[in-house]
Amino acid sequence: FMMAAVHIVEVGPRDGLQNIRTSIPTPVKLGLIAKLRDAGLKSIELTSVVSPKAIPQLQDCQQIMSSPMVQEWLQKESQLRLPVLVPNTRGLQVALDHGVREVAVFVSATESFSKANINCSVDEGLRRASAIASAAKSQGLAVRGYVSCIFADPYSGATPPEVVYNVVSRLIEMGCYQISLGDTLGVGAPAQVTKLLDYLFSRGVEPSILAGHFHDTYGQALANIWEAYRRGIRTFDSSVGGLGGCPFAPGAKGNVATEDVVYLFQQAGIETGVDLKRLAEVGSWISHHLNQANGSRAGSALIAK
Ligand code: HMG
Ligand code: MG
Repeated sequence: FMMAAVHIVEVGPRDGLQNIRTSIPTPVKLGLIAKLRDAGLKSIELTSVVSPKAIPQLQDCQQIMSSPMVQEWLQKESQLRLPVLVPNTRGLQVALDHGVREVAVFVSATESFSKANINCSVDEGLRRASAIASAAKSQGLAVRGYVSCIFADPYSGATPPEVVYNVVSRLIEMGCYQISLGDTLGVGAPAQVTKLLDYLFSRGVEPSILAGHFHDTYGQALANIWEAYRRGIRTFDSSVGGLGGCPFAPGAKGNVATEDVVYLFQQAGIETGVDLKRLAEVGSWISHHLNQANGSRAGSALIAK
């Protein structure tokens, strides 16, 4: 297989923080975003514009988007992707009002998680995503799509690959430039990655339109990434320090740690554009601020050196 560069989408400021109970001051979040960018990350999911009852931690989303730093980047740093997650056209409008250039829509492959997460059926979630996508595209925004529960749903068990394909193909039709496959529960292992990707490819989905979004509950996320890489996937979502989780996926752990992903590819001579030493410092910094253990093995090892 060919060695090719990998693109990392840092989701720490959104997925990483959304499940943390204690309120994190906005300046700490902005500090995190600034440090991630200084470490070389070129895609940073800033926040989400969702119900503050669903996700109280991110109710400062407008302060994040309107901060002078983010505004300057939105206007001047065209090579930086700064997606904002939105569940409906109301969220999109808030993002548009702040000059955001990219939004992410999210749907579940499975009914139970869809109900728990966004309080509607999969079909209704797809209709909302489609409404967001067409409005966003008409304003010149890029739209990224997430599919949750690709391997399993917290309430209804294993996910059949057909339902993942159904949602992926709908997101492609509505114009998402990339579809991020989310193992929301972090239960999948490489054998399942192979099976799902082979199924999607057999139905005509191109690897170049897919990204991997692996939570690390069972410690398989890095292995899953390597397997997906070998099958042609070149974009992976991760959180510095392994932060992350969704309050509607009980027991699920954080995203795979960005430091670990960078180390994995660096050891294989595959370029990510990220400065690992600086990134390890960011992971250590945010872990201290949140008063929690550093969830990155590579980050902890580098800091201890
Ligand atoms: P709902 O209760 O069905 O609908 O929520 P609603 O229209 O009645 O709205 C409820 C409340 O939210 C109302 O406020 C609205 O005004 C407000 P109230 O009248 O009760 O005071 N509201 C909003 N506020 C701010 N921004 C908005 C917005 N829309 C409505 N855009 C809704 C439906 C979708 C809004 C709600 O369920 C929700 O916000 N869900 C989001 C949950 C979420 O953010 N989950 C985590 C992100 S997904 C994830 O982590 C998975 C991912 O990482 C991939 C993976 O790992 O699989 C992406
Ligand atoms: Mg997630």
